[in-house]
Amino acid sequence: MNLSAERWVLGEDYAAAPTCVTCHMSANTRNGRKITHDPGIRISWTNRPPVSLLMDTDASGKIVTATDPAVRREKTVDTWEQKRTRMKEVCSYCHTADYVNAFYVQYDNLVLLYNEKFAKPGQEIMKTLAAEKLLTPTQYDEEIEWTWFYLWHHEGRRSRMGASMMAPDYTQWHGMFEVAERSDMELIPQACEITKYATAYGQGEAAARANAVIDGILLRPEHAWFEKGAGEEQMQAIRRSMAERYGSSGASAAGHGDGETERKAP
Ligand code: HEC
Ligand code: HEC
Repeated sequence: MNLSAERWVLGEDYAAAPTCVTCHMSANTRNGRKITHDPGIRISWTNRPPVSLLMDTDASGKIVTATDPAVRREKTVDTWEQKRTRMKEVCSYCHTADYVNAFYVQYDNLVLLYNEKFAKPGQEIMKTLAAEKLLTPTQYDEEIEWTWFYLWHHEGRRSRMGASMMAPDYTQWHGMFEVAERSDMELIPQACEITKYATAYGQGEAAARANAVIDGILLRPEHAWFEKGAGEEQMQAIRRSMAERYGSSGASAAGHGDGETERKAP
């Protein structure tokens, strides 16, 4: 690792394993041996806000949020792809291109799953409740405001950052598992509770509009199982993929455990 060396250029002074600075800041032989103090220039997604955004940035380094492609092109001076390419240059000292590209496919899929299935719907519910005056203007005096904060700020960031830096335990158990539980067992039931009381206490029209938003989300294919339950066909597909992954003994544990308890001694 050559950690006590004064100069620390990847590819010249070391190539054993990376530290934070190797990936985010250090010089390497492919980037003209330039150190950066702006870790953002190698990062393609921002995982900080409730919904992750692609890091197309303007002349002042701010994220371009325009959705119109022509406006985006005009404002963007450094694209998310350019930032990702700089990061891939680092990876490429130690891994093949296929390995690195496969990593980014997994990472993108996790961020998109988080964004589309949980974060955007959660944000939509919170915005609707606020717009319909079903929440007080004061932040964090209502349970659902804490629920939403935990969802994106704690569990949501853990899962996204876990996936971005090869930490499966944070991606899944301390991440998406908790995101899903927080969303399905807390955020949505708490939103329904709010509209139920609003209906009973004279805010029926506002509650009906909020319920329409919640129902619209629950009708989407990725959420439909929640109220309908999984059909036989879906259960078979789950058992099949469990069997592929864990062998036939794992399949019988589908939905009940992680398959470990059913595994036979060697
Ligand atoms: C093997 C390379 C590698 C190492 C080592 C590494 N990172 Fe990362 N880091 C990444 C990648 C890749 C991303 C996601 C980049 C993207 O979004 O395109 C990331 C993302 C991040 C983010 C998220 C930024 C955001 O909001 O999206 C933070 C914070 C971060 N790293 C900090 C650290 C710290 C602190 C360490 C050391 C403890 C570290 N990284 C070590 C590769 C690395
Ligand atoms: C300086 C060398 C070096 C750099 C740079 C580097 N890696 Fe690695 N990477 C390693 C080593 C060493 C391992 C561990 C291999 C092992 O345990 O068999 C590893 C492991 C991994 C793994 C497997 C993790 C697991 O849980 O099995 C992934 C995925 C990975 N790297 C992706 C990346 C990506 C993406 C980048 C660039 C953002 C990167 N690496 C940059 C050296 C590097």
